[in-house]
Amino acid sequence: MAVIAEKCTNIQVTVLDINKEKIDLWNSDDLSLLPVYEPELKEIVSKVRNKNLFFSCDIEKNIAEADMVFISVNTPTKQKGLGAGYASDLKWVESSARTVAKFAKNHTIVVEKSTLPVRTAELIKKILEESNSLEKSECKNSFSVLSNPEFLAEGSAIDDLRNPDRVLIGGDDEVATSLLSSIYENWISKEKILLTNLWSSELSKLTANAFLAQRISSINSISALCEATGAEIKEVSGAVGLDKRIGSKFLNSGPGFGGSCFQKDILNLVYICRFYGLNEVADYWESVVRINNWQRRRISSIVIQKLFGTISSKKLAILGFSFKANTNDTRESPAIFISKDLFENGAILSFHDPKVSEAQIENILEKEVIKENNQSFEWEYQKDLYDAIDSSDAVLILTEWFEYSRIDWYRCYKLMRKPAWIFDTRNIVNPIEVKSSGINYWGVGNGS
Ligand code: UGA
Repeated sequence: MAVIAEKCTNIQVTVLDINKEKIDLWNSDDLSLLPVYEPELKEIVSKVRNKNLFFSCDIEKNIAEADMVFISVNTPTKQKGLGAGYASDLKWVESSARTVAKFAKNHTIVVEKSTLPVRTAELIKKILEESNSLEKSECKNSFSVLSNPEFLAEGSAIDDLRNPDRVLIGGDDEVATSLLSSIYENWISKEKILLTNLWSSELSKLTANAFLAQRISSINSISALCEATGAEIKEVSGAVGLDKRIGSKFLNSGPGFGGSCFQKDILNLVYICRFYGLNEVADYWESVVRINNWQRRRISSIVIQKLFGTISSKKLAILGFSFKANTNDTRESPAIFISKDLFENGAILSFHDPKVSEAQIENILEKEVIKENNQSFEWEYQKDLYDAIDSSDAVLILTEWFEYSRIDWYRCYKLMRKPAWIFDTRNIVNPIEVKSSGINYWGVGNGS
């Protein structure tokens, strides 16, 4: 919405949330308090906020005045009930649709921006039409529903929005579709704006994420084979990626994919396939998630094996807690799962992350590790990288933050307990430098 406001000065954009604390932070004078860290976001917000970008909790007034409403709420995997562990929980989408139905006036275009299971637009349409006919029988309002999935990736969100590969708009109402398209045409050429039917648009989003995740599981599976055979994953991915049909992107082997989307979207796809009786298709996609879980466990097992089969009371420095660089988002971060394994094996963990705060880590450990195991674990958070590494037995690089590629390993060697180890799950350090400092090296997919 910030980029739409930046690119379309004639459009007034209002971001609504029921959480007042969050809206207050978006309105805060201190731009370092914005709830989301994303390169260049704060510059745009400072440029357009209170000009044509507003943040508000006044849902009734703003929906009543809106010509177009984007439903952009989260759709996490259901934890309980029918479809638990696979299906998306649509309670926020449903309640947003009911809110729109209640307050909208005249004709409103409702755009699905959240990632949704195929045929969710049907549910939204039903809610809008039926609540509307019940509640406002005298003055009938009308709605068009469009699907407009988002393909931005965190950490590069602003650039992805300014220069997208494509914009996808699904829907059968030509007037509504061309109105939404005209917003994007302010900065994106028309050839990049694809118009499809609603269901293709919804399914394309799930499929795109499934394909991307599948590439990561594919390269991670080969990383294990590289380690077993003496091959080098970077050489293999470099050679494979040069084939134009395959392409070089998304071939970085790592500790497994994290983030709020890939696993959730694949599991959702699996659920839909099973619903339609396509069990082979479901099994195929589910294996992408299975390999991802295996890769995380594989890394913690290697750490334990290399440290003489036990990490009990050993101090391990965990560098990086966000699920990827350039974001403070920790949802489904591999760091959570790997830390959990290490804690369960008795390690003491020392965390560092340039953007994830101590409070964030504490909250996650409390909810996802300590509560589940019903016992407390020993850990610390250090603002300074070298303080985190001080007196550790091993360093694990779990996020590819740039500063981790510049670590002074000679300095680390002096600080660490011997034999000292570095486990680079992102292949960002120079192995020769690490080894010449006296530290033992393991890199994912590094067979030699
Ligand atoms: C992903 C998609 O890339 C976006 O296109 C999509 O819009 C978004 O999900 C969404 O559905 O909202 P995002 O999760 O922000 O974006 O980040 P990615 O860059 O895709 O990375 C996901 C995970 O894969 C990260 O943990 C990353 O470290 C890992 N990854 C990525 C690798 O391990 N190797 C790679 O080569 C690339």
